[in-house]
Amino acid sequence: MPVLHVSAQQVTWSQHIAPVIHRNCTPCHRPGDAAPFSLITYEDVAKRANFIKRVTESRYMPPWKPDPHYVSFANERRLTAEEIRLIGEWAESGMSKGDAPVKEEPPVTTTGTLNNRQPDLVVKMKTAYTLKGDNVERFIVYKLPFELPDSMAVEAIEFVSSNRKVIHHANYEINDVPHADFDNTADYVDNTESHLDYYQQYINYRKKMKYFGGWIPGSSYESYPEDIGWMMPKRGVVLLTVHYAPVGKDEEVISGVQFYFRKKLIKRIINATTYGSGGVGEKDIEPFFYIPANVEKSFKLKVKLTETQSLLYVWPHMHLLGKSFKAYAVTPAKDTIRLVSVPQWDFNWQEIYWFPKMVKLPKGAVLMMEGEYDNTVNNASNPSFPPQLVYGAMRTKDEMLTMIMMTLSYEEGDEGRDLKRP
Ligand code: HEC
Repeated sequence: MPVLHVSAQQVTWSQHIAPVIHRNCTPCHRPGDAAPFSLITYEDVAKRANFIKRVTESRYMPPWKPDPHYVSFANERRLTAEEIRLIGEWAESGMSKGDAPVKEEPPVTTTGTLNNRQPDLVVKMKTAYTLKGDNVERFIVYKLPFELPDSMAVEAIEFVSSNRKVIHHANYEINDVPHADFDNTADYVDNTESHLDYYQQYINYRKKMKYFGGWIPGSSYESYPEDIGWMMPKRGVVLLTVHYAPVGKDEEVISGVQFYFRKKLIKRIINATTYGSGGVGEKDIEPFFYIPANVEKSFKLKVKLTETQSLLYVWPHMHLLGKSFKAYAVTPAKDTIRLVSVPQWDFNWQEIYWFPKMVKLPKGAVLMMEGEYDNTVNNASNPSFPPQLVYGAMRTKDEMLTMIMMTLSYEEGDEGRDLKRP
């Protein structure tokens, strides 16, 4: 922990700066991960000290989009004001190295190291995908079917890839598919430009979502408290959406999801529910969901919850026209339960937000989702120039107002139960 109120000449790399950088930056800024350069050694950081001062003061880095004053999440990635001040002072005072010993090695990746166990199952692409080196961003949805001797209780899951440095983020839904044929659909759908909507292509696989997970650079596996989890169905499919960064030369990639199973039975099963576009309440979004060219437009969705639930995490989702996203619930007693607010939506930094403690959502509460969209030329992320009329659909150049909620059926004493993952 940094010491409070260190005077300028005392701020050193070894004592103050290295621990902050290694904890908050190196997980993404290291060889093989998506960030464009490493931040590991004194030289890596000192030669960029002014740049680092700027991006930390503006809070552009580390990337964290939800408003921390609205809800503070367990996986929050933010520097303290004191850490930002120390970096600034260090940059301005000539980047003193100091003489305390510093371990300047990238932290070991956690891949495959859950309690030093090998994964019980790896579901991945059968053949490598060739990412074209034409400097175009791509969004691909892969179909990864699996079949097991029996359904299994899941203890942890982790996204894996042979080439993580080209991947900006990934999301995956795990669907129970007892019967539908896997051979009559494409192995993947290019969701960037293609006229194939992956929702249409894979509609028969998306009837029973069992779980939803995600990965961004720097994140590792996801696991659950002992009595809580979900059941990996006997037969089903992982629909894996990968957002590729633009690359200048062709790259081969094989990605997938690996699973660790639990021997013991799970008492409480996690439910994944999609609200809004592509899910519950899709037809009730107001006004009707389309965004004409050259306008900014806001939409709302209200859904009454029919069961008392304990909320574990949320994943808000919009595409490239998204400007802000907010969700909360209003209880029958008119209390507001804050869920998430992303004041400046950024498609590149969407992720799953874990609550530090379970949140009780009582039966009869009304879930409220609000999204603002900018379909003008002022939106630098607008995929169409000139702007085009956009409807609700799953392709990246269409739009969505969606939130996935992972919940349990409520049990006495859940509120306040710690969700800290091991
Ligand atoms: C979750 C992963 C992640 C973390 C954590 C992270 N970065 Fe980054 N960083 C990236 C990625 C990806 C890029 C390149 C894309 C971009 O600029 O959005 C980047 C870009 C940068 C840039 C270049 C910005 C520009 O305008 O070109 C700087 C400087 C930087 N990071 C510094 C830091 C520092 C300092 C920290 C820690 C305090 C940090 N980053 C933490 C992922 C991360």
